[in-house]
Amino acid sequence: MNIIEKTKEYVKNKLINEKTGHDWQHTLRVLENAKKIAIKEKEDIDFTVVQLGALFHDVADHKFGYSDVDRKNIVESFLLNTSLTKEQIEHVVYIANTTSFTKGIPLKTLESKIVQDADRLDALGAIGIARTFTFGGAFQREIYNPEEMNDTISHFYTKLLKLKNLMNTEEGRIEAEKRDKFMKDFLKQFYSEISTTT
Ligand code: ADP
Ligand code: NI
Repeated sequence: MNIIEKTKEYVKNKLINEKTGHDWQHTLRVLENAKKIAIKEKEDIDFTVVQLGALFHDVADHKFGYSDVDRKNIVESFLLNTSLTKEQIEHVVYIANTTSFTKGIPLKTLESKIVQDADRLDALGAIGIARTFTFGGAFQREIYNPEEMNDTISHFYTKLLKLKNLMNTEEGRIEAEKRDKFMKDFLKQFYSEISTTT
């Protein structure tokens, strides 16, 4: 088994109990998105690092109480004694520790920018909508409540609708535009259904 296949097995097992939209299928989609973006890039890219970064990006997430050091330890101990160089391992750790939107750190390498865009694409469009309501449900949020800002619909405004302007790559931007439009159509329909005439 090559390192990508081995990592897939490992990460799949790590995410087995994940039910908030950051599950194994999310990771697989991010991997596929990242590969699609990477092949469109003209610059030299370390394709192995892109794939491993995508696979590790939601392992030991900070949202669930893990730290950067926890993630570093997990990634390093798994990739040690493989054919990867020390620099490649550090690069994967860097991606795992910086991809998150919440942190808002400007990224330094093209590989990390690709993984971030790949992750952001999965927060958009039909799948993005599905994940958002899954997350809202898992954290006991209301679907919609105009009297407070803690409902799931608010997340579209605090995060999702901002993402298309934050994309790093041209390929990511093109796909984000389409998915953003779909979300806006969804919101339009949503409001038309809940609006009252009285
Ligand atoms: P990051 O990718 O930066 O770690 P998150 O993990 O917080 O960002 O977000 C990933 C996905 O989880 C979002 O795209 C969204 O679907 C869902 N999510 C995160 N926070 C919320 C929230 N407050 N309400 C609803 N969904 C959320
Ligand atoms: Ni993710």
